[in-house]
Amino acid sequence: MHQDLERKLVSASDIQARVAEMGREIARDYAGKDLLLVGILKGSTIFMADLARQIDIPVAMDYMAVSSYGLSTTSSGVVRILKDLEESIGGRHVLIVEDIVDTGLTLNYLVESLRTRGPVTVKVCVLLDKFERRKVDVEVDYLGFLIPDEFAVGYGLDYRERYRNLADIWVLKPEVYTKQGE
Ligand code: PRP
Repeated sequence: MHQDLERKLVSASDIQARVAEMGREIARDYAGKDLLLVGILKGSTIFMADLARQIDIPVAMDYMAVSSYGLSTTSSGVVRILKDLEESIGGRHVLIVEDIVDTGLTLNYLVESLRTRGPVTVKVCVLLDKFERRKVDVEVDYLGFLIPDEFAVGYGLDYRERYRNLADIWVLKPEVYTKQGE
């Protein structure tokens, strides 16, 4: 185990088992529908790749990149779109795929924003829910795991762009991100 990691939060095998269940549920719910999976870069990439392969119906995949709101805009929840969809979503079923919901500001903004573009439905699929940190209500339609308010890395989640490639999800040691002068 890497010295920056405190303990394993969700094992790779638990992730794979849950992702398979979520994929089956999504395939059943969207059978016969035009489904577009929208992955939010970069955290969702690994989850998106695994989830999509567990959905046994035809799906399209697209990606958006959004900026994290700065401190000053935390309360407003305004999120800037850095990379927009290439697909048009009018008349289609959209499922937003996220690695984690924390305050809920990002997903709240994305759902509202995509709903203005004329899709039939916009729903949300999230692997991890750090529910204690929620600031705005977000309806999560498909959820992997509830997690405590600790710094999670791995399976797409990063600390300063590192650890995304870990197969398990880990808790980062607090001294790593509270260290001064880095
Ligand atoms: C994470 C995550 C969500 C957002 C959730 O992205 O992927 O997009 O934060 O937080 P919220 O519920 O408080 O809005 P991050 O900004 O870390 O970017 P990344 O996916 O590129 O790592």
